[in-house]
Amino acid sequence: MLKRLCKTLACMLAISALGTAMAAEPIVIKFSHVVGEQTPKGQGALLFKQLVEERLPGKVRVEVYPNSTLYGDDKEMEALLLGDVQIIARSLAKFEQYTRTVQLFDLPFLFDDIAAVDRFQLSPEGQKLLKSMESKNVTGLAYWHNGMKQLSANKPLRSPDDARGLIFRVQVSAVLEEQFKVLGAKAQKMIFSVVYQALRTGLVNGTENPYSNFYDQKLHEVQKYVTETNHGVLDYMLITTSDFWNNLPPDIRSELDKIVVEVTAHVNQEADRLNQQDKQYVLDAKTTEIITLTPEERNAWRERLKPVWATFEKAIGPDLIKAAEASNKPQ
Ligand code: LMR
Repeated sequence: MLKRLCKTLACMLAISALGTAMAAEPIVIKFSHVVGEQTPKGQGALLFKQLVEERLPGKVRVEVYPNSTLYGDDKEMEALLLGDVQIIARSLAKFEQYTRTVQLFDLPFLFDDIAAVDRFQLSPEGQKLLKSMESKNVTGLAYWHNGMKQLSANKPLRSPDDARGLIFRVQVSAVLEEQFKVLGAKAQKMIFSVVYQALRTGLVNGTENPYSNFYDQKLHEVQKYVTETNHGVLDYMLITTSDFWNNLPPDIRSELDKIVVEVTAHVNQEADRLNQQDKQYVLDAKTTEIITLTPEERNAWRERLKPVWATFEKAIGPDLIKAAEASNKPQ
């Protein structure tokens, strides 16, 4: 009898110890991304880690994996959905497999500048897009800026005709593919981590990205010219899975929600400064000439690329395109 009682007591103690150990185990958030730590996204991921660990000590631990060290952009979505990572900040150009509406952001010359992008992202239509993949278990937490894209090649690209016959690396986006097709060029979809090698070996001749990514990947070492076209945007959606986020303890989730808001404000305020700084670093490296366009020259690019909109209007939705265009005028 006594023996049985002891056994039961030991079992209860073991269960309670296990419970305590489990309660003490922090929730781990793996945040994987493909760029360096000095970029807007890299800085944002580090600030997120810092604030989470300051405000939720022992409760949540954040592990940041930059530079495609854990997953490249071809694997990060699958890893997120399998629960191998909990947060990624994926370029808006890389969601077409999950929703066609987010393709909106790739339309060339849709937004006049990053302030217009910002206004649209904060609008009801922009906020709705964050929830456009809920049925696929993907939930958008915020938009993070990188910046406006520039065009590069080893020959000067001053007029749209200069791009004819060249091969450009693009992100996995049908809109971006079409953008180069209408220029009489070829587009080669390619993951981010191999772009430098592809340019160096001549597999592709040119590419597009904000200055931040050019400098981060040292693309200026293998591209003689950058044309400052500001023809499109490269921003991110910070995403997690609905399963993960909705199952967090409510107090932890609400603190994480607050931190996301704070980090987003910081990233979006800093992104332009980082891009301007990286533009200066590119200039200082003296490997690359930056070509600035006259308003007429820039308009020629706009006119040539505008037909891309019609090709995707139905898939994206004409009303959504109109709402985005309206954000070019400050209210
Ligand atoms: C690219 O593939 O060029 C970018 O999406 C990389 C990034 O995440 O900024």
